[in-house]
Amino acid sequence: MADLILVIDEGTTSTRAVAFDLQGRVAAEAGRPLTQVYPRSGWVEHDAAEIWDRTLACANEVAADVGAERILSIGITNQRETVVFWEKTDGSPLAPAIVWQDRRTARICADLRAAGHEAAVQAQTGLLLDPYFSATKIGWALENWPAVKAAADANRLAAGTVDAYLRFRLSGGDTFETDASNAARTLLMDLKSAEWDEELCRLFGVPPSVLPFIGACSGALGETRLIGGRTLSITGAAGDQQAAAMGQDCLRPGAVKSTYGTGAFLLANAGASVPVSEQRLLSTLGWKVDLETIYALEGSIFVAGSAVDWLRDQMGLLASAAESEGLARSVDDTSGVVFVPAFAGLGAPQWEPEARGVITGLSGASGKAHVVRACLEAVGNQTADVLEAMAADGVEPGVLKIDGGMVKNDWLCQDLADATGIEVERPNVVETTALGAAMLAAIGCGAYASPREAASAMRTVDRRFSPILPDEARRERRAGWKRAVDQVMAGLP
Ligand code: G3P
Repeated sequence: MADLILVIDEGTTSTRAVAFDLQGRVAAEAGRPLTQVYPRSGWVEHDAAEIWDRTLACANEVAADVGAERILSIGITNQRETVVFWEKTDGSPLAPAIVWQDRRTARICADLRAAGHEAAVQAQTGLLLDPYFSATKIGWALENWPAVKAAADANRLAAGTVDAYLRFRLSGGDTFETDASNAARTLLMDLKSAEWDEELCRLFGVPPSVLPFIGACSGALGETRLIGGRTLSITGAAGDQQAAAMGQDCLRPGAVKSTYGTGAFLLANAGASVPVSEQRLLSTLGWKVDLETIYALEGSIFVAGSAVDWLRDQMGLLASAAESEGLARSVDDTSGVVFVPAFAGLGAPQWEPEARGVITGLSGASGKAHVVRACLEAVGNQTADVLEAMAADGVEPGVLKIDGGMVKNDWLCQDLADATGIEVERPNVVETTALGAAMLAAIGCGAYASPREAASAMRTVDRRFSPILPDEARRERRAGWKRAVDQVMAGLP
């Protein structure tokens, strides 16, 4: 009997497939790393053919593991903003995918800002003029990659976020559709109508004909014959951070979650109306399920887990990411070392694409453990920055719901509570992004009637961490961090 939801979770550094039962328990999973290509400083690309091959391999591995006949339906969730360029004829990639972290369009964004476009763009899309979002990446590719331009001229170009690309390929080209939560990240969608806006398309040089149709996050979203050797329906789809908000049961206005993966993203449920930030936070679409559209306020932190990867892979300070927990515990403090990992510029609330990272406060007494601890403390410091901005916008959660691979680290969870001064809550399934996509798919195939029903059945709490750092020490820590961020901002080119 079919009793499992198969989720495809296509992230920035790896692609995974997870089978969940309807109580939210993991029945099987598989993952493959994704190659990160850095052609120049500040540029980040993925091979779209690799994304497809590895995603399909993971999905089939899990289907074989559990038995394809047990799969009720499929949910898809993905790294957002990253743009793929493919042939409408057969789905083959025409160029590298430009990743969300890529800064190549910083100049285009600065010029648009200087020309006075930001306020209107923010009012319509909820976003800011930053290279993070998809629109300037598409405009840049049309200007700089002849194969992309030629395909657009011949009406053969499809340009979309990773979800749209995967859905196109899974359906054998039958479905050319994205969902409203992913489309909300492009700078091309009007947030209120959830439709592409012609004026915005003109501003960013994107012909509307290259874009997929914008649909819902749950329901009959397409079919595939490429997984498990039978026809399966796709019934859930959402950007990874919005899916995590659903997976964390952030269903009431004011509930906030933070997901720690490559970057870290805090989303506050804003209910049925578009929130307006005075603090340079983003307004975004949470999910569209049946006739209900839920919005969210978002603080995007570009570097979290990837800083630990950097210490391991580039600096050779760690043999594994897990080793960071023991090293952070081995010292009482960072001994004055502060690490601002602005590798891809700074996101919320500074939004400075030209910023680059610094490690300050080094002395002869500084050792590996201090630097590693400072790297983990940066996660808490950035989280506290975003929560302060949310508070100034009127959102003050009593508890922060945390998830993502990094929160397996108990020391980090306690430090998040200490840095922010509020309780943090960890669920049993920390891969909450995938769980949220499973909930959307479960609603979409009729297994549950509503997000409320799905969350009650599928999400359970592991434990809460309460702040233990005295207020005075927290204030000192916050001041030290802010001085280091000021140093980064003062050193801009
Ligand atoms: O907006 C970028 C985000 O979707 C990437 O998520 O999980 O790869 O850090 P992640």
